[in-house]
Order: sequence, then C-alpha cells, then structure tokens
Amino acid sequence: MQTDVLIIGSGIAGLAFAIKLAERQPAVQITLVTKADQFESNTKYAQGGIAAVMDNVHQSFESHIMDTLKAGKGFSNVQTVKLVVEKAPKRLKELIDWGTPFDKTTDGNWDYGLEGGHSVARILHHKDQTGLALEKTLLKQLKRFKNIHFQTELFATELLVHNKQCYGARFLDKQEQPLNIQSKVTYLATGGSGQVFSKTTNPLIATGDGLAMASRAGAAIAHMAFFQFHPTALALKEQNPVFLITEALRGMGAHIINHRGERFLFRYHPEGELATRDVISEAIFREMQESKLENVWLDCRHINHNTLKEQFPNIILQCKKHGLDVFTAPIPIAPAAHYQCGGIKVNHEGKTTLNGLYANGECASTGLHGANRLASNSLLEAVVFAHEAALAVAKEIDRFEFLAGEESVKRNDFEKPAPITMQLIHLKKELQKLMYQFYLHKSLDLPLEPFGAEIDLIFSKIKHITLHHKESKTLWELQNMAETSRLIITDTLYE
Ligand code: FAD
Ligand code: SIN
Repeated sequence: MQTDVLIIGSGIAGLAFAIKLAERQPAVQITLVTKADQFESNTKYAQGGIAAVMDNVHQSFESHIMDTLKAGKGFSNVQTVKLVVEKAPKRLKELIDWGTPFDKTTDGNWDYGLEGGHSVARILHHKDQTGLALEKTLLKQLKRFKNIHFQTELFATELLVHNKQCYGARFLDKQEQPLNIQSKVTYLATGGSGQVFSKTTNPLIATGDGLAMASRAGAAIAHMAFFQFHPTALALKEQNPVFLITEALRGMGAHIINHRGERFLFRYHPEGELATRDVISEAIFREMQESKLENVWLDCRHINHNTLKEQFPNIILQCKKHGLDVFTAPIPIAPAAHYQCGGIKVNHEGKTTLNGLYANGECASTGLHGANRLASNSLLEAVVFAHEAALAVAKEIDRFEFLAGEESVKRNDFEKPAPITMQLIHLKKELQKLMYQFYLHKSLDLPLEPFGAEIDLIFSKIKHITLHHKESKTLWELQNMAETSRLIITDTLYE
C-alpha cells in the first residue's frame, strides 16, 4: 500500500496536522492511522485546557514565556518557547473558527482558567472536558477533506528505514496480520507513555510505541529523564488509569491538605497549591512518606457550589460514581504519571533526525517543556507544531519519492503462538511497579543506581519472549514500554 503522507495517531497532533496539510495540498493523499478507535488518545481526556495569550491588556507574551521557562527549570529551548507562545493566538483562533466550544463568561469574554505555574489566568477550556471537545471538533473538520483516508485499529510496529530515510511503516491489522504502508513522508503523533508507570492518568494506549519505534530506527531521542507526575489524581486502589482531578480546581481555590487537615504545601513553596506540578508532587510524596499513607486530600468544600457544578461537572460525576461527594468531604488524591516531557527530537519544523520522518505532540521533544511542562502547554504545542510541520511538508513533498527497502527490524516466522496472557500481564505489572518505585525514589532523593540493572533484567525477559514467539499487539506494546522505561532510567542515571 502507498500513500504520500502517512500520519500515525489521531490525537490533537495527528488530526491538526492532517487538516492543515489537506487545506494546503488537496492533491496529496494522506493516510491517517490509529491503533484504537478514532477518539481514544490522551487528547480525549484533557481537562484543564489550552494556554494562550488572547488578551493583550491583562496578559502578555513575555509573562507566558517567563512562566514556561521557569517551569522548565533551565532545560527549555528559549527559541522554541518564543515560537510556541507567539504563534499561539493564531492557532487558537483557528481552533475557534473550526468550532471548538471554549467557555465564555456572562459578559462575552473568554472564561480564562488558572493553573499551577501560570502568573495570570490564560487558559481556554470547555468545562472540565476540553480534550473531548477538541477531538470532536477536529474529527468533524477532518470530514471536509476527500484526500484524508482514516483507518482505525491498525497497529504500527516498525518504521521502514533505509540509509536514514524513512519510507513508511509496518503495521499489524485487526487480525494481527502484517501490512506495510509506504509513504514519502511519515509523521509520528503516537502520544505519550504514562502506562509504563503503575499509577497514571494516561489511557491504556499510552505505551510509548512511536518513541520506541523511532529509537529502534535510530532517530535521536531527548530529555527522557523528565517525566511529569500530576499531583492530583484520584487515589483509589488498583485503578488503571487513575482519574485526573484537574489543576483548574486549584486555580479556582481548592486546597491540598494532609491527614491532620493542614495545608502543608506552603512549607515547601511560597506559591502553595499554585506552585508547579513537580514541586507539588514531590511535596505530596514527602508527606505520604511521613504519614505512611497512600494519599493526601483535595478540599473543595469552600468553593461556591454553583461554580463547581457549572465548571467541573465531569469531576463531580466521576467522584460520585466512587461514592465521593466533593461538596461535603475532601477527596483522596495522590500523584500519578501524566506527561512525557522528552521524546523524539525534532527541529522547529517538526523534522526528526531521520529524513522523511516528522514527529509531533507528546511523542516529540521540541524543547518547549524542559524539565517540567507548564500546565496546559501541551495541547498548544501540538497545534503550533502541526501548523509548522504542515508548512514544511507542503513545501517539500515533491522532493520525496517512494522508496522500496528492507524493514528496519526483521520479524521471525515462529509459528509458536503468542505467550499466555497471564505471563504478559505479570511482566507488565512488574515493569509498571518498578517504574513507579523509580520515580518515587527520584522524588525523595533516594539511590537510583539499582534500577539500571532491574530494568535490564525485565527488558531481557521481554526480549526473550519476543524472540521466541509469534508477534502480537500486546507483545509489541510491552516491548515498547520496556524500551521507553530503559530510555527514562538511562537518561536519568547517565545524562
Ligand atoms: P494522543 O492524544 O495521546 O494521541 C496518540 C494517538 O496515537 C492515538 O490515536 C493512539 O491510538 C495512536 N497510537 C499510539 N500508538 C500507536 C501505534 N502503535 N499504532 C497506531 N496508532 C498509535 N494537556 C494540556 O495541554 N491541557 C490539558 O488540560 C491536559 N489535560 C490532560 C488530562 C489527562 C487526563 C491527560 C492524560 C493528559 C492531559 N494533557 C493536557 C496532556 C495532553 O492531553 C496530551 O499531551 C496531548 O493530548 C497529546 O496529544 P498527541 O496527539 O500527541 O497524542
Ligand atoms: C489538568 O487539567 O490538570 C491537566 C492540565 C495539563 O496536563 O496540562
């Protein structure tokens, strides 16, 4: 099968790029592929919103730039930060023109939300389900274009690469039969890898597939040491994923309290509940260590009940399903893996270090986030870089030709069926627990060296299975998770 442009992933990074490119190049054939249904993605679950400077009186580029750099702790690329912040208003205007229902106040202005690390309220949102609203809007827009061919339930396993030129990808279809799609340009928008940790806000699909594929194919990877934990995920036993309680609630005045009912965060940082996520997560881990409990609490009782009902209907509903009433009692929360700040290294046009391969969204590292992403900067980064990549691809598509070559990794032809599911489930849990412990140790400044050997051991067990059994989607995901975990640990220990 051949297509001019192959896009892998139907979250905001994949959809926005497909629309942008199709608008410019109606004759270019675009194939958009996802391993799940059309909606399933991290994007679908985004709550707080999308940050941008939409009002020059109360907001400024300078302060959004400064807040982003401060959160990134000196590891952000200043030029990338400027690019994203300064192009944000135009990209937001397009999202609005495409029909995204961002909330307004009664006097007709945008209802700006506030989150940790932001010095002013500058976050556009749709209640507490901004991501779902964005997915619906973008999927509707996609239908305008006859040159976009959308296929669900196709699982990418490997990039096709020859002499550092990417010429498509290999997939498993619904029946787990292999299929190659050759392309002039391949664009990875495969999202993050929160599932490598035992506690995560990310859905089950977030297994680092694109990152691991790109790494195996030799693309440069950057900043994997910087994984962001979100401080306020609902703390319930054995939930995967865990439900996120948006930071916008803290922007609205919610307090974080310990088992003694104390607002302890001011002991750790002058901004208290509005400090950046890394600071708050670390403080909560320390508090949990001291109390020997597995959670602290988020207290919303003092916030106006009508405002809560109006702005956070889904959080109220989800808590209610678990027997929790946000109006009358503090709710148990704990940090959970949330966002992969590093990823496949790209330049300002979204190009990776392999020819013909682009990457965007959570799987990519543009240099925006540095060591810690500022809240609500991720959806923004994806739309800005979708635009930049669409301009670059539209300009260059004619330069590329279809290549025929070998797969980057040959698969074996073992007829032995995939190993029994229980074995894979067990290994997955072992890996996820190890990675959570790794993060906990890192947050509490405990020794990390033993984790290098432990991840190598799990990795070799998984590798052994992949070498001796027939491939399957589950097995590929597990291998990708192990590879991603190794990149996180190695980058933390040795960079
Ligand atoms: P995703 O939206 O995750 O999409 C990835 C796509 O790739 C999916 O379609 C998936 O099926 C596909 N895919 C993956 N692997 C394969 C494969 N092997 N083969 C084929 N397809 C594949 N950010 C903000 O800026 N503001 C917020 O308010 C916010 N809230 C969040 C709340 C939650 C609960 C979560 C989890 C994240 C939140 N984030 C937020 C982060 C943000 O949602 C993500 O970083 C962003 O949506 C990532 O978009 P993406 O397009 O890169 O990836
Ligand atoms: C949230 O709503 O707290 C998540 C926002 C984000 O991840 O940027």
